[in-house]
Formats: sequence, C-alpha cells, structure tokens
Amino acid sequence: MQNILEIENSVRNQTQAGDKSFNSWYQFVLGYPPHLVRYYIFKFGIQPEHLVLDPFCGTGTTNVECKKKNIDSLGLEANPVAFFASRVKTNWQVPVFDIRQSFQEVISSSSASLEKFGLPENVSLFVQPQKGKALQIESKLSDDQRLVLPKDFISPTPLRRVLILKDCIDRVESEPVRELFLLALANLVVNHAGNVAFGPEVYTTKPKEDVSVLDFFYRLVDRMICDLGTQPSPSGYTDIVHGDARRVSEFFPTKLGDVNFIVTSPPYPNEKDYTRTTRLESVILGFVSGKKGLRTLKEQLLRSNSRNIFVTDSDQDYIKSFDSINKIAREIEDKRIHLKKTSGFEKLYHKIVKHYFGGMYRHLESMKPLLAPDARLAYVVGDQMSFFRTHIPTAKILAEIAESLSYKVDEIELWRTRLATATKIQIEENVLILRN
Ligand SMILES: C[S@@+](CC[C@H](N)C(=O)[O-])C[C@H]1O[C@@H](n2cnc3c(N)ncnc32)[C@H](O)[C@@H]1O
Repeated sequence: MQNILEIENSVRNQTQAGDKSFNSWYQFVLGYPPHLVRYYIFKFGIQPEHLVLDPFCGTGTTNVECKKKNIDSLGLEANPVAFFASRVKTNWQVPVFDIRQSFQEVISSSSASLEKFGLPENVSLFVQPQKGKALQIESKLSDDQRLVLPKDFISPTPLRRVLILKDCIDRVESEPVRELFLLALANLVVNHAGNVAFGPEVYTTKPKEDVSVLDFFYRLVDRMICDLGTQPSPSGYTDIVHGDARRVSEFFPTKLGDVNFIVTSPPYPNEKDYTRTTRLESVILGFVSGKKGLRTLKEQLLRSNSRNIFVTDSDQDYIKSFDSINKIAREIEDKRIHLKKTSGFEKLYHKIVKHYFGGMYRHLESMKPLLAPDARLAYVVGDQMSFFRTHIPTAKILAEIAESLSYKVDEIELWRTRLATATKIQIEENVLILRN
C-alpha cells in the first residue's frame, strides 16, 4: 500500500492516472481522490464483510472505490446533481449491448437534428450509414432556468447544441441507459461546452462561441462502455440516497447499528457557494429549475457560506455551550466592526461559523444509531481563513463536538496543506479519526 503522505503535497489531491475508470465519468472540484479512500480502507482494515457509509458522498468517490474492492457501501448526498452522479457511477448492471444500441440512435438522431437546425457536425467516423431522423424538439431553457444560470457560463450556440443533444437523450427508453448518457452530458457541459473553470471557485473563461458536441460525447460514452465491460468482479453492493446528512439515520432505517466505517468529507465553513460550482450542469439537466428550486436545495445543505444562511436557521442552537466556537464567531464579528465592513454578506460571517458547527453537531448525533460498536470514522476537513482571516481549526473543533457526543478521538492526521486564497498562507487539511 502506497503511503499517501509520500505523494507530493501539490498533487496529493489529484486523481492518479490508474484511477480514472468510473471516477472520470463525472468528478468535481470539491472531491477527494480515490487513493485517499484506498488509504483508509487499508489503514482501517476494511474488508468485504464490512459496511461503509459516506454521508456527504458528493460524486461517489468513496462508493466507487469500495465497489471496486467488493465492499458494500451507502452514500447520502443533498445536491441532486452530485447524488445523480454517484448513483449512475455505481450502477454497473447496465447491459453494454443496450447502451451501444441506444448510443447509435442518439448519435444519429442528434446529428440529424443538429443539421436540421443549421448546426451540422461531422460524425462520419462513428455513425452507421443509415441516417437518423431529425426530432421535433424545442431545445430551450425556460425563463426560470435562465434566472439561475449565470449568463456567461455557456455561450448561446454551444448551449443550443447541448440542448438538442439532451432532447435526443431524453427519448431513450431505458432509464439506466438514459441516465448514463445524461451523466456524460453533465461532464460535457462542464469540461467542454461551457465557459467555466475552477480554481477552486468556479470562474468564467474566454467565451467559446461554438464547439461541436457529438465527438466529445461519443468519447465519453465509449469510455463508460469500456469501464462497464471491464469492471472488477465481484463488486460491492451500493445504495445512494438523496438527503440531508443532519438527519442521516432517517435515510437508512434498515441499517441501524450496521455501519462499520465512515470515510467522508463534509463542506468546510468558507465562502464557497457549493450550488454555484455545479450550477451549469444542474440547470441544463433540469435538477435546478428556478429560484425556488435553488433555495430548496440550499436549505438542504450544511450552512457553510453567506449564500445559504436563512432567517429561520437554528442549527447554532446546538453548539451554544462551545466556548471555542463562540470565541471564533465573536472574533469575526469584532473584526467586521473594526474594519467597518457593512455588507449584508459580511454581517453573516459570524453566523455561518455557528450554524456550520451546529449542523455538524446534528450530523454526528444523527450518525450514532447507524454505527456498529467500535465503528471508525474518517472526516476530511480543511482549516479555514475566509472570514476576515480568522483561523478556524475545523478538525479540532469537530473533535471537541464529537467528544461531547461520546465519540473517542483517535487522531487528527494531516492530509495536505493548501494555499488560502485570501491570505496566501498555507493552511491544513486534516483527517479527523473517530471511534464509536
Ligand atoms: C467536500 S464535498 C464531498 C466530495 C466527495 N468526497 C467526492 O469525492 O466527490 C461535500 C459534499 O457534501 C454535500 N452536502 C452539503 N451539505 C449536505 C448535507 N446537509 N447533507 C448531505 N450532503 C451535503 C455537498 O453537496 C458536497 O457534495
């Protein structure tokens, strides 16, 4: 087993070349790499007879790695597009024959439809001689969708091409095949058709006036077919559920007392709007359909930035007695007053910290009924300095909360250091290791 701490710090969080299968179907900037999960599978001695849970599973890195090692796992995720990605990436039962057949139809019909709308693409390399029929399609975003999609995230012509392709995918009858294609489309809009990049915030790049989409789509689906055709056997069972980790035990009522290990990474208290990171694909795939839908999604997430704090929030009530948290919140608010910062967002900074740790308190408390005696838990969390450069030692505070809920703290292991954008200081990302 490779010691992950021997990997150069600057690339420690990157997916290694040999780990692309299934993982590369769709990944996002918030994810951790498969070798981190592998390290804890080894360190904890996780075996096929064990059950692993990732309550903030994002794009399913933990679950894919467990599946590859024939270990059963559960995943919970509140963001619908990440939930969707995890589910599709861990469904290895889709017959390759069905995929190939529908694939040919989608390529043919979208090729013909693109041509009909004056956007022809050269697909002669992979389309069979019979020509597809152009579909009667609308291929437009609704006004509500436009309201939540930042205008510069994708240029009009690539968007039109993507929507025509999506309309053709939507006609695929088999649900698992259709979902596989839609995940490829999500990958395509972010990594090819859109004008977005991540660093780590999502930002807009030079607009692409036009890009062809079929060739990229073809290569993505071809890779999926190849992964499914060469999957490890046997592979673990996986169950991914859409829900809020602050109520995690409610989502797995049949697994009470059964979970042996947690390997996870929750959000960190910073100014990152997690819904913006996935906004482009969420809107195009229809997971976020307007302002109301966006708010509902934000309400499901742990409070971690000023864009998802609401007047009705009460998570802070759970951590009132924690001096360490109150002290940080006070320091942030004092600095704001001293610096004469008066924007609505800045006034929320101190509240974010309280609601964040209150939410994590609820999560750790809700986890207890699911855990087997002596279960071990690994939480990857970063220290933060986003709020007027106030240092938030995330792992240390979570350890304090966990102890108050009668977990044992085994250790806090340094995973890597990162350059804090605001301060240009290297700050720690740690793994908090707990025992039930
Ligand atoms: C750091 S990311 C995890 C990434 C994951 N390890 C991966 O490799 O893709 C944290 C995830 O927690 C999710 N999340 C935030 N609040 C949540 C909540 N209350 N319940 C469940 N998931 C939540 C976010 O949507 C995000 O996908």
